[in-house]
Amino acid sequence: MKSIKISLVVMGMMFSSVVKAESGVESLSPELRDLLTKEMVALQEGMQSILPAYVSGNLDEVAKISGKIKNSFILKQQITDKQRQELGTKLPKSFISMDKNFHEYAGMLEHVSEMKNTELVGFYYSKLTESCVACHTEHAQHRFPALDMKTVNDEHLH
Ligand code: HEC
Repeated sequence: MKSIKISLVVMGMMFSSVVKAESGVESLSPELRDLLTKEMVALQEGMQSILPAYVSGNLDEVAKISGKIKNSFILKQQITDKQRQELGTKLPKSFISMDKNFHEYAGMLEHVSEMKNTELVGFYYSKLTESCVACHTEHAQHRFPALDMKTVNDEHLH
């Protein structure tokens, strides 16, 4: 009985890794991966330029940058219908929903910056950063293997 259970688990693991290989970010065409990378680099630059604006009280600038981040669906810009379809079939649902959350936080950051609420600007800036890490942990371990360690360590702690 025990061995049946174990082999079911092993089969399950094999199955999920097959599904992952066929549907993950790594299966995207080189053109789409290139666009994704460009979007990521732009996001990182945006996040980096928010910091000096925030700490110097220039919340108009924070609003401007986070507004750009909010609208930065590169994946929805400059692409053909076929590529759009490819994204729909290859990107896991959790990727799409994490991306959506991320853009919602960017919208909140824009909003609270416009309201000149310094404390909430700090809050949503950190929420945005957390959502970078969350998505990388789940969908970009091939790129950021150190995040894998974090997950493993967390599991040991719990
Ligand atoms: C919805 C998922 C998701 C979110 C949110 C996300 N990323 Fe990424 N990021 C990825 C994936 C997937 C890759 C790996 C892409 C690949 O391998 O083609 C990546 C790669 C990167 C890279 C490496 C690009 C390169 O040169 O290879 C950087 C830098 C990066 N992300 C920054 C960020 C920052 C900063 C944030 C938050 C402000 C963020 N990302 C939010 C999914 C995400």
